[in-house]
Amino acid sequence: MDTSEFIFKQTDNSVKNASFTWQTPSNIALVKYWGKSNPQLPKNASVSFTLNNCHTITTITFEKKDSNTINFELFFEGQKKDDFKPKIAKFFERILEYCSYITSYKMVISSENSFPHSSGIASSASGMSAIAMCLLSLEKQLNPSLTDIYFNKKASFLARLGSGSASRSIEGSLVVWGNHPEIEGSSDLFGIPFPYKVHDIFKNYQDAILLVDKGEKQVSSTVGHNLMHNHPYAENRFKQANDNLAKLSKILQNGDIKEFINLVESEALTLHAMMLTSNPYFILMKPNTLEVINKIWEYRAENDSNICFTLDAGANVHVLYPENEKELVNKFIENTLSKYCQKNQYICDESGFGAKQL
Ligand code: PMV
Repeated sequence: MDTSEFIFKQTDNSVKNASFTWQTPSNIALVKYWGKSNPQLPKNASVSFTLNNCHTITTITFEKKDSNTINFELFFEGQKKDDFKPKIAKFFERILEYCSYITSYKMVISSENSFPHSSGIASSASGMSAIAMCLLSLEKQLNPSLTDIYFNKKASFLARLGSGSASRSIEGSLVVWGNHPEIEGSSDLFGIPFPYKVHDIFKNYQDAILLVDKGEKQVSSTVGHNLMHNHPYAENRFKQANDNLAKLSKILQNGDIKEFINLVESEALTLHAMMLTSNPYFILMKPNTLEVINKIWEYRAENDSNICFTLDAGANVHVLYPENEKELVNKFIENTLSKYCQKNQYICDESGFGAKQL
Protein backbone atom coordinates (compact mmCIF):
# COMPACT_ATOMS: atom_id res chain seq x y z
CA MET A 1 0.00 0.00 0.00
CA ASP A 2 1.50 3.32 -1.03
CA THR A 3 1.62 5.72 1.89
CA SER A 4 4.43 7.90 0.54
CA GLU A 5 2.11 10.79 -0.33
CA PHE A 6 1.59 11.29 3.42
CA ILE A 7 5.26 11.79 4.26
CA PHE A 8 6.08 15.43 5.08
CA LYS A 9 9.01 16.52 2.97
CA GLN A 10 9.25 20.28 3.50
CA THR A 11 12.09 21.65 5.62
CA ASP A 12 10.76 25.13 6.35
CA ASN A 13 11.85 26.06 9.88
CA SER A 14 10.36 29.52 10.03
CA VAL A 15 7.36 28.74 12.27
CA LYS A 16 8.48 29.29 15.86
CA ASN A 17 5.22 29.31 17.82
CA ALA A 18 1.71 28.40 16.81
CA SER A 19 -1.60 27.42 18.37
CA PHE A 20 -4.65 25.80 16.77
CA THR A 21 -8.06 24.77 18.08
CA TRP A 22 -10.34 22.23 16.42
CA GLN A 23 -13.72 20.82 17.29
CA THR A 24 -14.16 17.30 15.94
CA PRO A 25 -17.17 15.00 16.22
CA SER A 26 -17.78 11.53 17.50
CA ASN A 27 -19.43 9.12 15.04
CA ILE A 28 -21.68 6.08 15.17
CA ALA A 29 -21.09 3.23 12.73
CA LEU A 30 -24.03 1.79 10.79
CA VAL A 31 -21.92 -0.95 9.19
CA LYS A 32 -19.36 -1.85 11.85
CA TYR A 33 -15.60 -2.13 11.78
CA TRP A 34 -14.52 -5.02 14.02
CA GLY A 35 -11.24 -6.70 13.17
CA LYS A 36 -8.04 -5.17 11.81
CA SER A 37 -4.53 -5.92 10.64
CA ASN A 38 -1.38 -3.89 11.15
CA PRO A 39 -1.02 -0.92 11.07
CA GLN A 40 -4.65 -0.21 11.88
CA LEU A 41 -6.05 -1.43 8.55
CA PRO A 42 -9.67 -2.57 8.63
CA LYS A 43 -10.70 -6.10 7.71
CA ASN A 44 -13.86 -4.70 6.13
CA ALA A 45 -15.23 -1.36 5.04
CA SER A 46 -17.54 0.56 7.38
CA VAL A 47 -19.80 3.62 7.26
CA SER A 48 -20.90 5.97 10.03
CA PHE A 49 -23.08 8.94 10.77
CA THR A 50 -21.09 11.90 12.00
CA LEU A 51 -22.59 13.27 15.22
CA ASN A 52 -23.31 16.92 15.78
CA ASN A 53 -23.39 17.47 19.56
CA CYS A 54 -20.93 14.85 20.82
CA HIS A 55 -17.54 16.31 20.11
CA THR A 56 -14.07 17.07 21.41
CA ILE A 57 -12.47 20.52 21.42
CA THR A 58 -8.69 20.42 21.39
CA THR A 59 -6.08 23.15 21.36
CA ILE A 60 -2.45 22.35 20.66
CA THR A 61 0.21 24.99 21.20
CA PHE A 62 3.50 24.36 19.47
CA GLU A 63 6.71 25.94 20.71
CA LYS A 64 9.93 25.46 18.79
CA LYS A 65 12.63 23.48 20.63
CA ASP A 66 16.08 22.10 19.81
CA SER A 67 16.19 18.44 20.83
CA ASN A 68 14.94 15.77 18.47
CA THR A 69 12.52 13.91 20.74
CA ILE A 70 8.74 13.83 21.04
CA ASN A 71 7.79 16.11 23.91
CA PHE A 72 4.22 16.92 24.95
CA GLU A 73 2.01 17.72 27.89
CA LEU A 74 -1.62 16.79 28.14
CA PHE A 75 -4.50 18.51 29.89
CA PHE A 76 -8.03 17.12 29.92
CA GLU A 77 -10.82 19.40 31.10
CA GLY A 78 -8.27 21.68 32.75
CA GLN A 79 -6.41 18.94 34.64
CA LYS A 80 -3.03 17.45 33.80
CA LYS A 81 -3.77 13.90 32.61
CA ASP A 82 -0.66 11.76 32.69
CA ASP A 83 -2.67 8.50 32.55
CA PHE A 84 -3.87 9.39 29.00
CA LYS A 85 -0.28 10.06 27.88
CA PRO A 86 0.88 6.54 26.87
CA LYS A 87 -1.87 6.23 24.23
CA ILE A 88 -1.03 9.63 22.74
CA ALA A 89 2.73 8.93 22.95
CA LYS A 90 2.19 5.70 20.98
CA PHE A 91 0.16 7.65 18.43
CA PHE A 92 2.94 10.24 17.98
CA GLU A 93 5.52 7.46 17.52
CA ARG A 94 3.33 5.86 14.86
CA ILE A 95 2.87 9.04 12.89
CA LEU A 96 6.46 10.30 13.21
CA GLU A 97 7.44 8.95 9.79
CA TYR A 98 4.66 11.08 8.24
CA CYS A 99 5.04 14.17 10.47
CA SER A 100 8.76 14.55 11.16
CA TYR A 101 8.09 18.13 12.35
CA ILE A 102 6.52 16.99 15.64
CA THR A 103 9.94 16.51 17.22
CA SER A 104 10.82 20.16 16.53
CA TYR A 105 8.13 21.45 18.88
CA LYS A 106 7.07 21.16 22.44
CA MET A 107 3.35 20.45 22.24
CA VAL A 108 0.81 21.32 24.90
CA ILE A 109 -2.50 19.59 24.25
CA SER A 110 -5.65 20.79 26.01
CA SER A 111 -8.82 18.84 25.38
CA GLU A 112 -12.42 18.78 26.51
CA ASN A 113 -15.45 16.72 25.52
CA SER A 114 -19.00 18.01 25.11
CA PHE A 115 -20.34 14.76 26.53
CA PRO A 116 -19.95 13.69 30.16
CA HIS A 117 -16.65 12.07 31.07
CA SER A 118 -16.92 8.28 31.59
CA SER A 119 -20.32 8.18 29.93
CA GLY A 120 -19.39 5.10 27.96
CA ILE A 121 -19.40 7.20 24.80
CA ALA A 122 -16.21 6.42 22.92
CA SER A 123 -14.05 9.53 22.94
CA SER A 124 -11.14 8.09 20.95
CA ALA A 125 -12.71 8.97 17.57
CA SER A 126 -13.27 12.64 18.38
CA GLY A 127 -10.11 12.88 20.52
CA MET A 128 -7.71 11.46 17.92
CA SER A 129 -9.26 13.32 15.00
CA ALA A 130 -8.93 16.64 16.89
CA ILE A 131 -5.20 16.07 17.44
CA ALA A 132 -4.80 15.12 13.77
CA MET A 133 -6.52 18.35 12.64
CA CYS A 134 -4.27 20.49 14.88
CA LEU A 135 -1.20 18.77 13.42
CA LEU A 136 -2.41 19.41 9.89
CA SER A 137 -2.95 23.08 10.74
CA LEU A 138 0.71 23.28 11.73
CA GLU A 139 1.71 21.37 8.60
CA LYS A 140 -0.24 23.86 6.50
CA GLN A 141 1.78 26.71 8.04
CA LEU A 142 4.98 24.85 7.28
CA ASN A 143 3.79 24.17 3.74
CA PRO A 144 1.14 26.71 2.62
CA SER A 145 0.72 24.99 -0.76
CA LEU A 146 -1.12 22.11 0.90
CA THR A 147 -4.66 21.78 -0.55
CA ASP A 148 -7.88 21.43 1.47
CA ILE A 149 -8.43 17.99 -0.06
CA TYR A 150 -5.00 16.79 1.02
CA PHE A 151 -5.49 18.42 4.46
CA ASN A 152 -8.57 16.33 5.24
CA LYS A 153 -7.20 13.18 3.64
CA LYS A 154 -3.97 13.26 5.65
CA ALA A 155 -5.84 14.23 8.85
CA SER A 156 -8.04 11.16 8.42
CA PHE A 157 -4.99 9.03 7.60
CA LEU A 158 -3.27 10.17 10.82
CA ALA A 159 -6.42 9.90 12.96
CA ARG A 160 -6.80 6.31 11.75
CA LEU A 161 -3.39 5.47 13.18
CA GLY A 162 -4.64 6.67 16.58
CA SER A 163 -8.01 4.92 16.49
CA GLY A 164 -9.55 3.28 13.43
CA SER A 165 -12.97 4.87 13.84
CA ALA A 166 -11.32 8.31 14.21
CA SER A 167 -10.66 8.24 10.45
CA ARG A 168 -14.44 8.74 10.07
CA SER A 169 -14.48 11.91 12.24
CA ILE A 170 -13.00 14.48 9.87
CA GLU A 171 -15.34 15.44 7.06
CA GLY A 172 -18.84 14.56 5.90
CA SER A 173 -22.18 13.57 7.32
CA LEU A 174 -21.85 9.92 6.32
CA VAL A 175 -18.29 8.67 6.12
CA VAL A 176 -16.94 5.48 4.56
CA TRP A 177 -13.64 4.00 5.67
CA GLY A 178 -12.19 0.89 4.04
CA ASN A 179 -11.64 -0.07 0.47
CA HIS A 180 -14.92 -1.16 -1.17
CA PRO A 181 -15.44 -1.93 -4.87
CA GLU A 182 -18.80 -0.13 -4.99
CA ILE A 183 -17.74 3.03 -3.16
CA GLU A 184 -15.70 5.22 -5.44
CA GLY A 185 -12.56 6.65 -3.85
CA SER A 186 -12.81 4.48 -0.72
CA SER A 187 -9.58 3.41 0.94
CA ASP A 188 -8.27 1.40 3.88
CA LEU A 189 -5.95 4.31 4.64
CA PHE A 190 -8.47 7.11 5.29
CA GLY A 191 -12.17 7.91 5.46
CA ILE A 192 -14.08 9.69 2.69
CA PRO A 193 -17.46 11.45 2.70
CA PHE A 194 -20.09 9.05 1.27
CA PRO A 195 -19.75 9.99 -2.39
CA TYR A 196 -23.36 9.61 -3.61
CA LYS A 197 -26.49 11.71 -3.18
CA VAL A 198 -28.26 10.77 0.05
CA HIS A 199 -32.07 10.57 0.24
CA ASP A 200 -33.74 13.39 2.21
CA ILE A 201 -35.12 10.98 4.83
CA PHE A 202 -31.54 10.50 6.10
CA LYS A 203 -30.84 14.24 6.45
CA ASN A 204 -30.55 15.44 10.08
CA TYR A 205 -31.04 11.86 11.21
CA GLN A 206 -31.64 11.72 14.96
CA ASP A 207 -29.52 9.73 17.41
CA ALA A 208 -30.46 9.66 21.09
CA ILE A 209 -27.70 7.99 23.07
CA LEU A 210 -29.12 6.20 26.08
CA LEU A 211 -26.52 5.99 28.83
CA VAL A 212 -27.41 2.52 30.05
CA ASP A 213 -24.03 1.91 31.65
CA LYS A 214 -21.45 4.58 32.21
CA GLY A 215 -18.76 2.29 33.64
CA GLU A 216 -15.41 1.58 32.02
CA LYS A 217 -15.67 -1.17 29.40
CA GLN A 218 -14.36 -4.51 30.73
CA VAL A 219 -12.87 -5.27 27.32
CA SER A 220 -11.18 -2.52 25.31
CA SER A 221 -11.84 -2.27 21.59
CA THR A 222 -8.14 -3.08 20.94
CA VAL A 223 -8.58 -6.44 22.68
CA GLY A 224 -11.92 -6.97 20.91
CA HIS A 225 -10.43 -6.32 17.48
CA ASN A 226 -7.61 -8.74 18.21
CA LEU A 227 -10.06 -11.47 19.14
CA MET A 228 -11.20 -11.46 15.51
CA HIS A 229 -7.87 -13.15 14.64
CA ASN A 230 -8.62 -16.89 14.57
CA HIS A 231 -12.29 -16.18 15.26
CA PRO A 232 -14.40 -19.03 13.78
CA TYR A 233 -16.79 -16.62 12.03
CA ALA A 234 -14.30 -13.91 11.08
CA GLU A 235 -14.08 -14.44 7.32
CA ASN A 236 -17.86 -14.67 6.89
CA ARG A 237 -18.31 -11.60 9.06
CA PHE A 238 -15.88 -9.50 6.99
CA LYS A 239 -17.65 -10.59 3.81
CA GLN A 240 -21.08 -9.90 5.30
CA ALA A 241 -20.02 -6.40 6.38
CA ASN A 242 -18.82 -5.56 2.86
CA ASP A 243 -22.05 -6.99 1.38
CA ASN A 244 -24.03 -4.92 3.89
CA LEU A 245 -22.17 -1.78 2.91
CA ALA A 246 -23.08 -2.36 -0.75
CA LYS A 247 -26.75 -2.77 0.29
CA LEU A 248 -26.67 0.23 2.61
CA SER A 249 -25.14 2.41 -0.09
CA LYS A 250 -28.24 1.75 -2.23
CA ILE A 251 -30.61 2.25 0.72
CA LEU A 252 -29.02 5.59 1.59
CA GLN A 253 -29.65 6.70 -1.97
CA ASN A 254 -33.17 5.30 -2.48
CA GLY A 255 -34.52 6.06 1.02
CA ASP A 256 -35.87 2.57 1.78
CA ILE A 257 -36.10 3.13 5.51
CA LYS A 258 -37.52 -0.32 6.35
CA GLU A 259 -34.46 -1.92 4.76
CA PHE A 260 -32.28 0.59 6.62
CA ILE A 261 -33.78 -0.48 9.98
CA ASN A 262 -33.28 -4.15 9.22
CA LEU A 263 -29.69 -3.77 8.14
CA VAL A 264 -28.60 -1.38 10.91
CA GLU A 265 -30.08 -3.47 13.73
CA SER A 266 -28.62 -6.64 12.26
CA GLU A 267 -25.17 -5.00 12.11
CA ALA A 268 -25.42 -3.97 15.78
CA LEU A 269 -26.43 -7.45 16.93
CA THR A 270 -23.79 -9.08 14.73
CA LEU A 271 -21.06 -6.92 16.30
CA HIS A 272 -22.12 -8.20 19.71
CA ALA A 273 -22.49 -11.74 18.37
CA MET A 274 -18.79 -11.59 17.44
CA MET A 275 -18.02 -10.76 21.08
CA LEU A 276 -20.23 -13.57 22.36
CA THR A 277 -18.52 -16.09 20.08
CA SER A 278 -14.87 -15.06 20.46
CA ASN A 279 -12.52 -16.89 22.79
CA PRO A 280 -12.27 -15.58 25.45
CA TYR A 281 -15.94 -14.59 25.08
CA PHE A 282 -17.45 -11.51 26.65
CA ILE A 283 -20.73 -9.62 26.92
CA LEU A 284 -20.86 -5.84 26.83
CA MET A 285 -24.65 -5.54 26.81
CA LYS A 286 -26.40 -5.13 30.16
CA PRO A 287 -29.92 -6.26 31.12
CA ASN A 288 -31.21 -2.74 30.41
CA THR A 289 -29.70 -2.83 26.92
CA LEU A 290 -32.10 -5.69 26.13
CA GLU A 291 -35.01 -4.00 27.92
CA VAL A 292 -34.51 -0.94 25.72
CA ILE A 293 -34.24 -2.99 22.52
CA ASN A 294 -37.51 -4.77 23.32
CA LYS A 295 -39.25 -1.47 24.11
CA ILE A 296 -38.04 -0.04 20.80
CA TRP A 297 -39.42 -3.05 18.92
CA GLU A 298 -42.77 -2.75 20.73
CA TYR A 299 -43.01 0.97 20.02
CA ARG A 300 -42.13 0.45 16.36
CA ALA A 301 -44.84 -2.19 15.91
CA GLU A 302 -47.53 -0.29 17.80
CA ASN A 303 -46.91 3.10 16.21
CA ASP A 304 -45.85 2.12 12.72
CA SER A 305 -42.68 4.04 13.52
CA ASN A 306 -39.28 4.02 11.83
CA ILE A 307 -37.35 4.06 15.09
CA CYS A 308 -34.43 1.61 15.35
CA PHE A 309 -31.28 1.09 17.36
CA THR A 310 -27.61 0.50 16.99
CA LEU A 311 -24.91 -0.37 19.50
CA ASP A 312 -21.28 0.51 19.91
CA ALA A 313 -18.79 -1.68 21.75
CA GLY A 314 -20.62 -1.10 25.04
CA ALA A 315 -23.99 -1.26 26.80
CA ASN A 316 -25.34 2.11 25.66
CA VAL A 317 -28.06 2.15 23.03
CA HIS A 318 -28.11 4.60 20.12
CA VAL A 319 -31.75 5.21 19.20
CA LEU A 320 -31.98 6.25 15.54
CA TYR A 321 -35.01 7.94 13.92
CA PRO A 322 -35.81 10.32 11.10
CA GLU A 323 -36.27 14.01 11.84
CA ASN A 324 -40.00 13.86 11.05
CA GLU A 325 -40.54 11.59 14.10
CA LYS A 326 -38.45 13.71 16.45
CA GLU A 327 -41.27 15.05 18.59
CA LEU A 328 -43.05 11.73 19.16
CA VAL A 329 -39.93 9.64 19.66
CA ASN A 330 -38.40 12.16 22.05
CA LYS A 331 -41.56 11.82 24.19
CA PHE A 332 -41.27 8.04 24.09
CA ILE A 333 -37.63 8.26 25.17
CA GLU A 334 -38.42 10.66 28.01
CA ASN A 335 -41.49 8.76 29.22
CA THR A 336 -40.41 5.15 28.68
CA LEU A 337 -36.75 4.60 27.80
CA SER A 338 -35.05 7.08 30.14
CA LYS A 339 -35.81 4.93 33.17
CA TYR A 340 -33.44 2.26 31.83
CA CYS A 341 -30.59 4.77 31.75
CA GLN A 342 -28.20 5.44 34.61
CA LYS A 343 -29.53 8.50 36.43
CA ASN A 344 -32.14 8.69 33.62
CA GLN A 345 -29.43 10.24 31.44
CA TYR A 346 -29.48 10.33 27.67
CA ILE A 347 -28.06 12.67 25.03
CA CYS A 348 -30.07 13.84 22.03
CA ASP A 349 -27.91 14.20 18.98
CA GLU A 350 -28.28 14.23 15.21
CA SER A 351 -26.08 13.78 12.21
CA GLY A 352 -23.60 16.60 11.65
CA PHE A 353 -20.98 17.52 9.08
CA GLY A 354 -17.53 17.10 10.57
CA ALA A 355 -14.62 19.02 12.01
CA LYS A 356 -14.58 22.81 12.56
CA GLN A 357 -11.65 25.06 13.26
CA LEU A 358 -12.40 27.40 16.18
O1 PMV B 1 -11.84 2.78 16.54
P1 PMV B 1 -11.83 1.68 17.52
O2 PMV B 1 -10.55 0.91 17.49
O3 PMV B 1 -12.17 2.16 18.91
O4 PMV B 1 -12.95 0.63 17.11
C1 PMV B 1 -14.29 0.98 17.03
C2 PMV B 1 -15.16 -0.18 16.81
C3 PMV B 1 -16.64 0.06 16.89
O5 PMV B 1 -16.93 1.30 17.48
C4 PMV B 1 -17.26 -1.02 17.75
C5 PMV B 1 -17.29 -0.03 15.51
C6 PMV B 1 -17.04 1.13 14.60
O6 PMV B 1 -16.99 0.86 13.38
O7 PMV B 1 -16.96 2.27 15.05
